[in-house]
This record gives sequence, C-alpha cells and structure tokens, in this order.
Amino acid sequence: MTAQSTQPAAQRLTGGATTAERRDDLVLAAVGISKQFGGLAALRNVDLQIPAGGIVSLIGPNGAGKTTFFNIVAGIFEPTRGTIRVDGTPLIGPPLRAWLEPIIWVGPALLIVLIGWLLNLATGTPTAPQGRPQTAAEAVSGGAVWFEIGILVGLGVLIISLLLAIIRPPWYRRAIGRLGIFKSAQPHHMVRAGIGRTFQNIRLFQNMTALENVQVGMHLKLESTPVDALISSRRQEREEEASRVRAGELMRMVGLPGREDELARNLPYGDQRRLELARALANDPKLLLLDEPTAGMNPNETAEMTALIGRLRRELGVGILLIEHDMHVVMGISDRITVLDHGEQIAEGTPEEIRRNPKVIEAYLGAPE
Ligand SMILES: Nc1ncnc2c1ncn2[C@@H]1O[C@H](COP(=O)(O)OP(=O)(O)OP(=O)(O)O)[C@@H](O)[C@H]1O
Ligand SMILES: [Mg+2]
Repeated sequence: MTAQSTQPAAQRLTGGATTAERRDDLVLAAVGISKQFGGLAALRNVDLQIPAGGIVSLIGPNGAGKTTFFNIVAGIFEPTRGTIRVDGTPLIGPPLRAWLEPIIWVGPALLIVLIGWLLNLATGTPTAPQGRPQTAAEAVSGGAVWFEIGILVGLGVLIISLLLAIIRPPWYRRAIGRLGIFKSAQPHHMVRAGIGRTFQNIRLFQNMTALENVQVGMHLKLESTPVDALISSRRQEREEEASRVRAGELMRMVGLPGREDELARNLPYGDQRRLELARALANDPKLLLLDEPTAGMNPNETAEMTALIGRLRRELGVGILLIEHDMHVVMGISDRITVLDHGEQIAEGTPEEIRRNPKVIEAYLGAPE
C-alpha cells in the first residue's frame, strides 16, 4: 500500500502512472505528497490509498501533518511535491507547463489581428481623392478594413478565451491536459469530483437553521439561477422542495430527526458535529474526509458517532479518510491506518499491525531511556 514513487511529476500525471495510482477501485490515490511551509516540512513523501467504501485512518501526535494532508486532498493547499487522483483522475499536483496556458488565451486573437494586418498590406491601402475623406466603399474595395475586422474578431476571440479560462468546462480542462498543462483543482472542483469534508473546528453557518445548513451543501447540484430565484420559477420551487426532502433524509440518517428548524448555534455540540456530517453528505460524495469527528465528545456520543460512521460506509458505500485521536475509535473502525510523525509516514497497515509497530509506540509514548 505504500508504493514509494520516484517518478517525476510530469510522468506521474500523464502516461507513466504507477500500478497503485491506476488501480480502478481506488477512490483516492495520493502519491509522494510533500508540503513545505517556508522552512517547515509539514509532510514528507506521504502515500495513501483508499479503495471505494474503505475506511482509512490518519493518526499521529499533534502537529504531525494530518490536517495539512486533508487540506491538500480538499484542494486548499497545493502540495510542494506529489499527486492526488480521485477515481483515477489526476486532480492535485504541482503545476506543469502552466506558462503555456496564457499563450493559448491570447495566441489565437493575436494571430487573427496579424492576418488582418497582412491582408491589409497585401491588398494595398487605398487613397481618397484629394480634398475629401475616403468613403466606406473605397475603404472596403481597397482592403483597408481588414486590419479593423481583424482587431474586432480578435477581440471577440480573446473574450471567449478568457471566459473559458474562468469557467473551465470539463472539455477545456481535458484539452489543455492533452497539451501537458496541469494545474491543481480548486476546492469546488474537489467537491464536484465527489469529496465531502468536515472540519477539525466546527464550521457551520451558525445563524442558519440546521436544514438550511444541509441544503447549502447541495448547491453544486442545483440548476436554478439567480433569475429563477428572483421570479420564483417552477424549476426553483421544484429544486427547493427536493433539496428540503433530501436534507431532511440526511438529518434523519445522522440522527437529528425533528431538529430541522433549529438554528445551528442552538444545537448541542455533539449534534453540531452530526449536522456537519449531514452537510458533507449533501453532495453525495464518494469520499468523506472527517477531521476528528469525535473531538470533544463524551464516551456515549463517541460510541454513537463511531457506529454512525460505520453505517454510512455500509449504507452509502462512501470511502472515508478519518483523522482521529481516540484509539478505540480508530482501531475499531479502520480497514487500514497510516501513521504520521513530524510529517514523516512512519507506518502503514491494519489496526493489528499498527498496534504492535514499535515506531508507532515510540512516537506516541516516546523512546525508552
Ligand atoms: N498554513 C500554515 N502555515 C504554516 N505552518 C502550518 C500551516 N498549517 C499547518 N502548519 C504547521 O504544519 C505542521 C502540521 O500541522 P497540522 O495542522 O497538519 O497537524 P495535525 O497533525 O493536524 O495536528 P493536530 O493533531 O494538532 O490537529 C504544524 O507544525 C503546523 O504548525
Ligand atoms: Mg489537525
């Protein structure tokens, strides 16, 4: 599972992926992830794979780099080195040939202007009879307008190129990928790719109702536009109703029936954690990133949350990457565990293997005198 990769990034992002990265059943394949914050190496060459429906835990002492790894998978930090594939698609990695992309935006427009200018030269600039300005017909027949036409069309092409660069539809990203241009996906691309997450410190919309918090998690799936909202169109009403129903189902699934209309800030702490989980599920993710979901919970709440995570995997088939300090939770629920210490991956294996690993014991308890 810890396939060390020495391939250059370009090779790994294009044709030369390792067998591990190419395994079809992997919902997440992170290879050789390093992250440098100035002089601090927060992660060094970390590999992690999660098969569809698998639960993999990331453990390690405080400051080991767990949340940093999460933030890289979520598209918030760009790794200094290494690549991440979601469902086989490379989404995160250091930029490749990024300098080429601006040339693609302005190149065609400049070419059109140049062609207009050359046509002008070829057809000759007409001269108006002495004493009066040239008429439009004279200009057209003499070819003087080619340059102006070139500028107008070029401007149009430039605007379209820049719009494409902002919107970045999938076919555009595929096309620039074929040219070897690669840029890491942004957080909203990662959500679209099927990643949901919760945060180490709860980040709910405190002044919205519980149900509204879950509905917010569905916004990428909604097709209604602001205009639909303004005129309360049928599409808007239909989607609003469907999202209310689905959000209600998710709230029941995480154990919050009947709490839909309460403000998020009025929910008890354990319920706020459940609500965050419901919001993360709202986009029907293939992979859930849970950063210390039982932090601050009492033993009862912890046991319930652990059972819930297991149920989500069974019922929704969602893969889960779990950061957790509670070893009962980690050992009881994980298929495999990766251990970090000071950014270094010191162990990887089944819960039983990790429990007996001397390096892990040393990282948690310190070396014997
Ligand atoms: N944005 C940042 N800028 C600079 N340093 C950072 C940044 N984020 C994290 N770090 C540093 O990187 C290291 C790893 O931090 P990280 O939050 O990933 O640890 P962690 O394993 O999640 O710890 P904990 O168990 O306490 O949550 C720490 O030394 C931290 O101070
Ligand atoms: Mg953390």
